[in-house]
Amino acid sequence: MAAKDNRQVVPEHVAIIMDGNGRWATRRGLARLRGHQAGATRVREIVRACPDQGVRYLTLFAFSTENWRRARSEVAGLMALLRRYLKSEAAELITSGVRVRFIGDRRPLNPGLVRLMTDLESRTTQNDRLHLTVALNYGARDEITQAAVALAEAIRRGEIAPDAVTATDLEGFLYTRAIPDPDLVIRTSGEKRVSNFLLWQSAYSEYEFTKVLWPDFSANHFADILLNYGARERRFGAVLP
Ligand code: IPE
Ligand code: IPE
Ligand code: MG
Repeated sequence: MAAKDNRQVVPEHVAIIMDGNGRWATRRGLARLRGHQAGATRVREIVRACPDQGVRYLTLFAFSTENWRRARSEVAGLMALLRRYLKSEAAELITSGVRVRFIGDRRPLNPGLVRLMTDLESRTTQNDRLHLTVALNYGARDEITQAAVALAEAIRRGEIAPDAVTATDLEGFLYTRAIPDPDLVIRTSGEKRVSNFLLWQSAYSEYEFTKVLWPDFSANHFADILLNYGARERRFGAVLP
């Protein structure tokens, strides 16, 4: 959060674009799916690291609205991996105080997967140690478009006057309405682009791009980036004294 002296400040909310699974596998002569499997192990490690590091909110980009363009076998493999992951991690997430949320359009997802998602959400509503948000079939343009439609409907019902609409009104219709904006967005694998992730919410986020591929991204890499964040000065448009 904003602070006069940002040194040693821990970001309250870290969002991660977990990229580089495919390249990690290809470099080893393995199928791309093996990279995704290795990446899932890192998810577990980073989730566990957050409470120790003082991070309260973690958002992970797991599957984008554009990722359907990949080979059918890769998409099916990713979806199966997600199901396996949710099944195997549910008990630990529940007992270790992690509140889980999913953002994105659930309609095209397999009903079995959606059941696992809603079940995990409802079984962790009382948890507060770490707020984990998984972006699954998420796209920021999609999110903002559906928020604009919902806002238009509220206007049509007479609940909001069109000339009184504020940014906060629109925010109330985003998937992320219950969570704060990310303070820090990390992208692994060396790509320096946002790929339709949290466009609205990251308006004032700090960005960190690392060349490390996601399956190699350890709790130590994470700790180093958090340390570096602590040395940055966030201005939010103002001139600091
Ligand atoms: C990120 O790794 C995981 C998903 C997008 C699901 P990639 O699969 O994009 O890995 P690269 O970019 O091809 O190396
Ligand atoms: C972004 O990575 C999406 C996820 C990490 C889930 P991509 O690999 O899909 O992004 P592009 O295609 O390089 O922009
Ligand atoms: Mg990629």
